[in-house]
Amino acid sequence: MSLQASFMGLAALLTVVSSAAVNDGCNALASSHPDKTFFPGSERYKFENEFSWTSTTYLGPSCIFAPQGAEDVQFALQTFREHQVQFGIRCGGAMPIDNAANIGPEGIMMAMTNLTSMAISDDTETVTIGAGITWPPLYAYLDEFGVTANGIRSGNGGVVGAILGGGPFGFMAYEYGMSNAARSLECVLADGTLVTASAKEHPDLFWALVGGGNNYCIVTKAVLNTIPISSALIGTVSWGSNVTDQYIKSVEQFALHGAEHPKASFEGQTRWVPSRSPDISFDGYLWYSGEGDVPIGLENFTAPILPITRGNISRTTIGQWSNEFNYAPPLGTRAIFHWLTSNANATAARIAFDTYYESIASLADVEGFSTAFSMLPITPIVTGAPRGNAMSLGEDDSPAIWYVESPLWSNPEDDERVLRVHSEANEKIRAKLSAAGLGPLPFMYLSDIQKSQIPETFPAYGARNLRKMKAVRDKYDPDRVFTELVPGGAKIALA
Ligand SMILES: Cc1cc2nc3c(=O)[nH]c(=O)nc-3n(C[C@H](O)[C@H](O)[C@H](O)COP(=O)(O)OP(=O)(O)OC[C@H]3O[C@@H](n4cnc5c(N)ncnc54)[C@H](O)[C@@H]3O)c2cc1C
Ligand SMILES: *[C@@H]1O[C@H](CO)[C@@H](O)[C@H](O)[C@H]1NC(C)=O
Ligand SMILES: *[C@@H]1O[C@H](CO)[C@@H](O)[C@H](O)[C@H]1NC(C)=O
Ligand SMILES: *[C@@H]1O[C@H](CO)[C@@H](O)[C@H](O)[C@H]1NC(C)=O
Ligand SMILES: *[C@@H]1O[C@H](CO)[C@@H](O)[C@H](O)[C@H]1NC(C)=O
Ligand SMILES: *[C@@H]1O[C@H](CO)[C@@H](O)[C@H](O)[C@H]1NC(C)=O
Repeated sequence: MSLQASFMGLAALLTVVSSAAVNDGCNALASSHPDKTFFPGSERYKFENEFSWTSTTYLGPSCIFAPQGAEDVQFALQTFREHQVQFGIRCGGAMPIDNAANIGPEGIMMAMTNLTSMAISDDTETVTIGAGITWPPLYAYLDEFGVTANGIRSGNGGVVGAILGGGPFGFMAYEYGMSNAARSLECVLADGTLVTASAKEHPDLFWALVGGGNNYCIVTKAVLNTIPISSALIGTVSWGSNVTDQYIKSVEQFALHGAEHPKASFEGQTRWVPSRSPDISFDGYLWYSGEGDVPIGLENFTAPILPITRGNISRTTIGQWSNEFNYAPPLGTRAIFHWLTSNANATAARIAFDTYYESIASLADVEGFSTAFSMLPITPIVTGAPRGNAMSLGEDDSPAIWYVESPLWSNPEDDERVLRVHSEANEKIRAKLSAAGLGPLPFMYLSDIQKSQIPETFPAYGARNLRKMKAVRDKYDPDRVFTELVPGGAKIALA
C-alpha cells in the first residue's frame, strides 16, 4: 500500500470513529436529558442552529444540548470527554466567525439559551446573570432599578461572550473604561468542577478569562457591577453624505480631547448600501449621560460644526433605546467583522476610509451587499481599565482610532470574492498606514476580529501575557479539553 493510500485509509477510519463518537455522545445526552437534547428535524434544533447573527455560522451539529443549570453543563462536559466528542459553546451568537460558537456534524453544540436568570443584589450594586442573557434584556431589567451596566452599544449579543471577547466596549467605557464589567464569573472547568473566578478566588483564571475566549472553562453565570446611570441623551443620527473631512476631523478631535468629557461618547458608522445609493452615508450614535438637555463634549458632532441631518439626540434609558431595534439581519445574511486600528490622526483615518471604500467598490454588484466602516475614537479612559489586563491594554494604547468593517451579503457563492477583496483592501490599508507611520497599533479586540485575524490576536497581547495565559491554561485545563474538543475560535495553546 502506498503511503498516500494508507493516509487516506487512516483519515477514513478517523471519520468513522469520530462519527461513532458523536452519535454515542448525542445518545448519552438524549437518554439522560431528552428534554434538553435536540436533533435535526426538530423545530428547536433549527431555532438553535440558526440562532446566531449570521448564516455563516449555521453549521449543523449532530445534536444540540441546551443546559438548564450548571449541573447540566457538568454532565455534558463529562459526556463530551468520555466519548471524545468535539463541541461548540454558544451564548448570544453574535460573533461572526463560523465555528467560534457552533460546530458541524462532527460535533455537538451547547446552547446557553435557557440560562436566563437575572437577579440584582439588594444594594443594586451587582447583578447576577445566567450565561444565556444578552444585553438588551439585561438593560431593560436594570432600568427598573435606575441603574445600568457598562455593556455594549447595540446588537443583541451575549453578555458572557462580550466579556470573554475582551469587552464589553460601549458608550460608558468613555467614563468607566472597557473590559471591567464583570466582578466574577462562575464556570465549569475541564475536570467538571464548578468554580468562581474573581479578583479574590482564582484570580489568575479571572484575569485570563477577560479576553481569553473559550479556552478555559464553560461560563455558567456572571456577576456584573452596575453603574448609577438611569438615563442618557442618546442619538441614532446621520450627518448625510458629503461630510467626510469634518466627520473624520471630529473623530480625531474626540480621540484627542474626549477624555475631558467622560459622560459624552460617539460611535461613527459610515455606511455604503449600493442598492440604495452610490453615496456613503455618515451615521452614528451619540451619548451623553450628564444632566440637562444639552450634551457637553459633543460640539464637534452637532451644529454648527457638523449638523445632524436625520434623527436627534433625546433623553431615554439604554434599556428602552437598545430594545427599539430589530437586530436580526435579513434571514440568511452572510457577515464578517474585520478589526483595524490607527493613531488618533485624521490623515490616518482618511487613508483607512478612502482605501477601504476604493478597494471594495467592485463589490457593488454582489447580491445583498452593504457595508459599514465604523470609526471609534478612543480616549485613555477607554483603554485605562482595568490595569494589568490580559490584553495589555493600557493608557498608552490611546488616543487612537479603532475601526470595524462589517460587510453583509446574501449568498455563500460570493463568500470567496467578498473575503478576497477585503483581504486585499486590508493589506493595502495596513501598508499605507505603516508607510505613513500612523498605524496599525498593537491592540487586537477578540470580539471584533475576522477569522483570518485569529493568528495575530493572542500574540498582540504581548509575549509576557501570552506566556502567562498559556500557563493559566496548563493549570486549569492540563488535558487540553478546550483546545482539542472545542476546535472553534481563537486557541491560546496554538498562538
Ligand atoms: C450587531 C453587533 C453589534 C455589536 N456591538 C458591540 C459593541 O458595541 N461593543 C462590543 O464590545 N462588542 C460588540 N459586538 C461584538 C460582540 O460583543 C462579540 O462578538 C461577543 O463575543 C459576542 O458574544 P456572544 O455571546 O453573542 O457570542 P457567541 O458567538 O455566542 O460566542 C462568542 C465566543 O465566546 C465563546 N463563549 C460564549 N459563551 C461562552 C460560555 N458560556 N463559556 C465559554 N465560552 C463561551 C464562544 O464559544 C465563542 O467563541 C457586536 C456584535 C454584533 C453582531
Ligand atoms: C428554553 O428556551 C426556549 C427558547 O427560548 C424556550 O422555547 C423553552 O421554553 C425554554 N425552556 C425552558 C425549560 O425554559
Ligand atoms: C459636497 O460639498 C462640497 C464642499 O462643501 C461641494 O463643493 C459639493 O458640491 C458637495 N457635493 C454634493 C454632491 O453635495
Ligand atoms: C472639538 O474640536 C476642536 C478643534 O476643532 C477641539 O479644540 C476641541 O477640543 C474638540 N472638542 C472635543 C470634545 O472633542
Ligand atoms: C427624536 O427622535 C426620537 C427617536 O427617534 C423621535 O421619537 C422623536 O420624535 C424625535 N424628536 C424630534 C424633535 O424630532
Ligand atoms: C497626523 O499625521 C500627519 C502626517 O504624519 C501630521 O502631519 C499631522 O500633524 C498629524 N496630526 C495630528 C493631530 O497628530
